[in-house]
Amino acid sequence: MTEPKVPAPKPRKSLALAMESSEGSIREHGRDFLIAFYSALRSLKLYPVENDQVQRALDSIFDTARSLYEVEGALELRVSHEFLYVNSVRLRLNLNNYATFSHVLTTLRQCGIGMVDVEEGVQRREWQIFLSQLLAYAPSDGVPDLSGLWQRMAQGGITHILLKPPPEHDEAFGDSEEAKDVAKRAYERSVAVTKELIGGVRMGRTASAKKIKRAVQSIVDQVLRNEVSLVGLTVVRGYDEQIFTHSVNVCIFSVSIGKRIGLTKLQLYDLGMAGLLHDFGKSRIPLEILNSEVPLTEEQEEVVRTHPWQGVLALFGLRGHGEIPYRAMVASYEHHMKTDLSGFPKTIEPRQLSMFSKIVAVANGYDTPPVRSFGKGVPVRPDEVLREMRENKDLGYDPILVKALINLLGVYPVGTCVILDTYEIAVVHGANPDLAQLHRPIVRIVVTAEGGRTDGSALVDLASVDETGNYRRSIIKVTEGLDYGINMSDYSV
Ligand SMILES: [Fe+2]
Repeated sequence: MTEPKVPAPKPRKSLALAMESSEGSIREHGRDFLIAFYSALRSLKLYPVENDQVQRALDSIFDTARSLYEVEGALELRVSHEFLYVNSVRLRLNLNNYATFSHVLTTLRQCGIGMVDVEEGVQRREWQIFLSQLLAYAPSDGVPDLSGLWQRMAQGGITHILLKPPPEHDEAFGDSEEAKDVAKRAYERSVAVTKELIGGVRMGRTASAKKIKRAVQSIVDQVLRNEVSLVGLTVVRGYDEQIFTHSVNVCIFSVSIGKRIGLTKLQLYDLGMAGLLHDFGKSRIPLEILNSEVPLTEEQEEVVRTHPWQGVLALFGLRGHGEIPYRAMVASYEHHMKTDLSGFPKTIEPRQLSMFSKIVAVANGYDTPPVRSFGKGVPVRPDEVLREMRENKDLGYDPILVKALINLLGVYPVGTCVILDTYEIAVVHGANPDLAQLHRPIVRIVVTAEGGRTDGSALVDLASVDETGNYRRSIIKVTEGLDYGINMSDYSV
């Protein structure tokens, strides 16, 4: 057997100490799940489905999967090299469980399965059909091919168990459909967790830190591996979800900035946590103020301005964090302070703003919900927000961090609608990876020169030149997509 490499997706070896207890719990639950998986496979192989032992085994896999999902908010079983991963934590192999592991590993591999993704709401019946299909599946001429199995599972009405082939190369993630899916799931999961967190606090429930950690962890993983897809999702925003998507966006931008200034993965986890929780104090602000559709009165503004310190108090109430999230508290307290210490809360003594606070302030400054939510005229275009942040020193952002944000977003951020010198209209898909070409992003053409709409699937690099060395396309100006009936979020990722 060749020396197995630790697979690239979601490597766990260098995980932060803070994550270790959570890893331990996944390992324990993951092992139970795997044993239940194995027992159900075996008993289904030996006995008819009505048999008591089969029924008990199905109960057991259903229960262990459900409790794992409840604790983790996700359940993924992944095969990589000689190992099995549950929610990207590698299950440890020992003499007692060797047979179980290798049986499950071999079965999945024979069927050409790289990952089993179990979604919320999976039925006991689906487990039974899925496992029976695994047993019945015989790849033609020994070559695993998932499509036959997919078909039979679909016929059996399985909708909550998704199978994926092993990735060709664990690293080759880039811009594929799968990469987008994974990013989207990480994003949606984080929005759901934030919603649950803030909604729960409003109803007097103590928030669980475990789920937040998992959400932050997946965001950091995605920023490190698949940043373009994840950043693309930040332009998709529903009005109702705004406070939740804003928290997730600030988390994503903070981690991306942190990555650019060379923070370690451990620091990125802490930073992501600070980003996601920076407005946690808003859970203590009355909803009628937060959701107000008319400009706030001075007194109401005052109440909103208490959210940084209210956040510190709210963070003391986080359950199961293991340690007090001091860095998130500091970032919550300081994220509206400017570099000259104006802003709010008012500072009495001179202080040194923490690096995390300055990063979160920049991320928060870019993802500007007040501009969009209080109906104060036309929403500000993303490129204008960036320019203002860079040029208006009174806003009090750290210039190096603003630069890092511009590096990430390009001069024309993702989702900006632009008119090209070819008379085509395009939506910015991502910054040019060549930092010398920040003015020439990667775009999707959405309207042709003749005025026809495209499906926006083709990506065009505005830095590409023709035979004579001239740029094929250049941006003439930034425009409002809505003027052309273009919904930017349709094309953002
Ligand atoms: Fe805030």
